[in-house]
Amino acid sequence: MSTETAVTGPVIDQDPTIAVGSRVLPSRYFLAPLAGYTHLAFRRVIRELGGVGLATTDLVQASTLLSGRKKALELIETSPEDRPLSIQIFSGRVHELVEAAAWLADHGFEGIDINMGCPMAKVNSQGGGARLMCDTDGACETVSRVVAAVDVPVTVKMRLGWDRDQLTAPALARAFEQEGVAAITIHGRTRSQGFTGEVDHEGIRQTVEAVESIPVVGNGDVRSPGDAFAMRRSTGCAAVAIGRGAMLDPWLFVRIGRELAGEPSDWNPNVDAQIAFLKRHFALMVQQHQEYSCILFRKFAAWYGVRLGIPEDLEDRLRRFESYEEFDSIVDQVRQRHGTRQGEIATALIKVPNGPVERW
Ligand SMILES: Cc1cc2nc3c(=O)[nH]c(=O)nc-3n(C[C@H](O)[C@H](O)[C@H](O)COP(=O)(O)O)c2cc1C
Repeated sequence: MSTETAVTGPVIDQDPTIAVGSRVLPSRYFLAPLAGYTHLAFRRVIRELGGVGLATTDLVQASTLLSGRKKALELIETSPEDRPLSIQIFSGRVHELVEAAAWLADHGFEGIDINMGCPMAKVNSQGGGARLMCDTDGACETVSRVVAAVDVPVTVKMRLGWDRDQLTAPALARAFEQEGVAAITIHGRTRSQGFTGEVDHEGIRQTVEAVESIPVVGNGDVRSPGDAFAMRRSTGCAAVAIGRGAMLDPWLFVRIGRELAGEPSDWNPNVDAQIAFLKRHFALMVQQHQEYSCILFRKFAAWYGVRLGIPEDLEDRLRRFESYEEFDSIVDQVRQRHGTRQGEIATALIKVPNGPVERW
């Protein structure tokens, strides 16, 4: 239960921690999964800044995990610093989800999250992701069997429903609670909206009101501490999950912590801190992927380029470098040539599927 001090400003909780089943999480502000971005290296580097209550892996296809595919094992790779962590799985086949969840629990993972929000055709066509929200009985059967198979908390991440005419989230949330789900994360859009349109706080609020006592985690378009507190206040959600906002500004959790402590949050980390973050992100990636990191890191070039205001030619080098030595030389240049370009860090830097949602 939260006690608000004012109509605007931070939401001050009597207890800043939050229980999700048997787990007690240190903060109510979570990192939402962004497949391809929030891998181990990013989770670790952002956790080092502080304030992340929970992180969740990319969605992992249950069947690929069960067959021990390298890609699936890479996605669940973690380290002692990468805590608290939930592993997100998806499948349209109940027995695969059950077996994958049991395997994860047996291997010491502390939380299982079932994906019911993914809008991608390749996931939905197998009956997984948001498609599960269209079949209330099937979805309940699925979560009930997963919950029964493991002794760790099971959570569900979903959308408001498939489309405007099928807003099933409140009914499903209530049913899932009865089946023993420990928390629900709700992205305040329908599947057919994809990533367009405004996040519907009212829809999230209806889901919050539908459950008896489990935490509902609000999600969608939180880019600032003010957005996070507004989400809490207007929906009554117990926690907030932040995806793209945390990529665009990894200091967002720190800012939220500062507002909660009554400090100004509009400060900016100095350039040294930002370059240290860039170097640490790459170094942690190298720990997991070695030389292949030179390719994996390219995806972040545009984002670091704008964040540090480096000239285009330098950003271009960050997009093409092939060795650790080249990375070090780029960083030396970044130190000297940062701040030469002004630019907004646009949400568009994180690619979302576009075009007609049916073809994703
Ligand atoms: C590139 C990208 C990848 C995503 N991957 C996942 C995923 O693996 N699992 C999941 O539940 N949601 C995934 N999402 C959805 C986000 O977790 C989140 O619900 C959505 O982006 C809205 O929140 P935000 O505005 O804070 O990003 C992804 C979103 C994006 C943009």
